[in-house]
Amino acid sequence: MNSKDNNKEGFSKVSISWYPGHMAKTRRQISEDLKLVDIVIEILDARIPLSSRNPDINKIVANKKRLLVLNKSDLADEKQNVKWIKYFKDNNIEAVLVDSKSGKGINESLSKIKSIYSDEQSKFDNKGRVGKSIRIMVIGIPNVGKSSYINRLTKKTSAKVGNKPGVTTQKQWIKVDDTIELMDTPGVLWPKFESEEVGLNLSYTGTIKDDVIEPIEVGFQLLKKLCTSYRKNICERYKLEEEYINYVFDKDLEENEKVLEIMHEIGRKRGALISGGNINEEKTAQIILDDFRSGNLGRITLETI
Ligand code: G4P
Repeated sequence: MNSKDNNKEGFSKVSISWYPGHMAKTRRQISEDLKLVDIVIEILDARIPLSSRNPDINKIVANKKRLLVLNKSDLADEKQNVKWIKYFKDNNIEAVLVDSKSGKGINESLSKIKSIYSDEQSKFDNKGRVGKSIRIMVIGIPNVGKSSYINRLTKKTSAKVGNKPGVTTQKQWIKVDDTIELMDTPGVLWPKFESEEVGLNLSYTGTIKDDVIEPIEVGFQLLKKLCTSYRKNICERYKLEEEYINYVFDKDLEENEKVLEIMHEIGRKRGALISGGNINEEKTAQIILDDFRSGNLGRITLETI
C-alpha cells in the first residue's frame, strides 16, 4: 500500500470536476447570488470542520453576514463539538450544531439567523420598512449535507437539490417562516485538494468517492488514526480487548505493521476471509469505512483544535 501515490492520483481525478475554469465560473455565479442575500449559511461537516471548508470561503463570502452550521453533529464527538463552537465564537463567527437527519439544531439556526440580522432589521424598521424578509442562501462543498439542511429548513422530506458544480438554475425563494426566505439552490463549492491529510479526511467521510481513492488504503489510514485517538471505539465495535491493542502497539514493529495486524484481527472477527483463510483486506477496510460513516463506530471527530 502506498498512500502518497494513491492519493495523488485520487486528487487529480477529483480535480477533474473542479478544473480552474469551473472554479472561476462557480465563484462568479455565487458572487452574483450573494448580492441577493442578507446572510450566508456555510455548512461544514462537524467531524472535519477544517477539511470540509472551501479554501477560498473568506474571500468568497467577504463582508456578508454569515452563520456557520456544523452539520452531522450527531456523528461527531460531543466534547469536540462544544470546543469547535467555542473556537468559532472566539473568532467572531456565529456557529451552530445541527443534525439535519433528525432536525436537531434547526430551530437554533433560525434564532441565530434572526439575531445576526437584528441590527439591520431595526434599521429597516426605523425607516418604516416593516416586514422586510431576511434572505438567506446555503453554501458548502459536496456531501456536507446542504440538501438535507435545506429540506429540514423548508420541512421537505425528499427533493434532492442537484450537486453538480456550476449548474445554473432559476433562483427561487422558499418561505421558511414569517421573516426568512431561502434561495432554493445551494452554492456548491469545491473542496480543498492540496494536502494528503485533507484528502484522506474527505475520503473517510465519503466526500471523495471510493471509486476515486482506494478504499483499502483509506480504510487502513482511518484505522491507524482511530487506533491513536479512538481506541475504545475500535474495541467496542469489533469486540477487541484494549489490552490486545496495547500489546500489539508495544511490539517491536513498524507502526503500519501494527495497524495491519489489528486490521487483520478485525477482518477475522468479521469473517472477511479469502481462500486459504487469509484476510480479505479490501472487505475489512470497507467494513471500517462503512462503520465510521454510519456512526456505528460511535461519535468521532477527526480534526481537533
Ligand atoms: P449535499 O447536498 O451537501 O451534497 O449533502 P446531502 O444533503 O445530500 O447529504 C449527504 C449525505 O449525508 C446523505 O447521506 C445525508 O443523508 C447525510 N446527512 C446529511 N446531513 C446529515 C446529518 O446531520 N447527520 C447525518 N447522520 N447524516 C447526514 P447519503 O448516505 O448520501 O444518503 P441517505 O442516507 O440520505 O440515503
